[in-house]
Amino acid sequence: MQDDFFKYQAQTTPHPLAVEISHAKGSYIYDINGKAYLDFVAGVSANSLGHCNAKVINAVKQQLDLYLHVMVYGEYIQQPAVKLSKLLAQHLPAPLDTTYLVNSGTEAIEGSIKLARRYTGRSEIISAKNAYHGNTLGSLSLMDFEERKKPFYPLLPDIKHLKFNSESDIALITEQTAAVVLETIQGGAGFIEPKNNWLKKVQDRCNAVGALLILDEIQPGIGRTGKLFGFQNYNCKPDIVVTGKGLGGGLPIGAFTASNDMMRTLSDNPKLGHITTFGGNPVIAAAALATLQEITQSNLIKDTLEKEELFRNHLQHSKIKEIRGRGLMLALILDNPDAVSKVILTAQDQGLILFWLLFEPNAVRITPPLTISNEEIISGCKILTAILDTL
Ligand SMILES: Cc1ncc(COP(=O)(O)O)c(C=O)c1O
Repeated sequence: MQDDFFKYQAQTTPHPLAVEISHAKGSYIYDINGKAYLDFVAGVSANSLGHCNAKVINAVKQQLDLYLHVMVYGEYIQQPAVKLSKLLAQHLPAPLDTTYLVNSGTEAIEGSIKLARRYTGRSEIISAKNAYHGNTLGSLSLMDFEERKKPFYPLLPDIKHLKFNSESDIALITEQTAAVVLETIQGGAGFIEPKNNWLKKVQDRCNAVGALLILDEIQPGIGRTGKLFGFQNYNCKPDIVVTGKGLGGGLPIGAFTASNDMMRTLSDNPKLGHITTFGGNPVIAAAALATLQEITQSNLIKDTLEKEELFRNHLQHSKIKEIRGRGLMLALILDNPDAVSKVILTAQDQGLILFWLLFEPNAVRITPPLTISNEEIISGCKILTAILDTL
């Protein structure tokens, strides 16, 4: 299988981790040799309820017996998609009550950019330095990492970048701006939280000049930071909220939610302003609905803050310079990239899954399932600190 993997499946790097998976359950992934790996990454913040959660599996199985794909998005009334959109509306502040379901995070970002341009009649989009919003051409245009962007030029015009948490850069937002797109907590940059009410200041500036605030909650959203949506920690409210990853409970999804008034501009004059074949797919929407129900009806969201405490208490080590982030979105900052790679690769050997962050070479990612137990946290931290002892 290894040879076929490298020969037939397109690769993203020359050195993938290449663990060959047999099955996964709860907080563990098992390889074909029967080795168990405690998962501190959750498919990069996607498996919010762990692996093969019984409620998600049951919802999928029930839907499999009824129907799979029947029609492109938006034409037929399919209960899972309607119920999921309604449940999102019930948990979001007014007027965010109308959701467009798509197939991935980056697609949801693309949809939100189109919506902002269509609604405001403006073209300029402002995003943040070190932002990551996905890899299709529109989302890639929002990134400021020249080395990764340049080979794919030309990208979208009219993009500006401000510095996350910079008060003076807020002045870049003007009457020309259609939207400001920000991750609520910057992920790839190193789990950087907004400081000093910065998001609220950005929101106020957007309101003053008629620009929209789009918050990318694809990673922090759906319970990971002690609130259902990350922005609820920071006294602000977006005009469009974008979700994905953890919403799907292990299946591929993206969603952007706005007011009904705003969203209607995509379906009229001209109609078909945004279309997708598989968006809102009934099996995936059923999985997402079960995931969102479980996260909103259990103690999981509240527990993330206690679990954060547990991680912080068990990760006190001289080799850790700082632990950034909130809830179950934590980044350990080490001395240098070599130490980071050594920790991640040794941990994998010892049955603990950790991972890198995109733009912060000194960070080790810890984003476990929200369902991880206290015992699992403690046993993973023991492995991790023992590896740090050897650095
Ligand atoms: C903050 C953020 N936005 C957007 C995306 C893109 O989502 P997807 O990979 O589902 O297209 C990601 C994925 O890592 C992300 O972390």
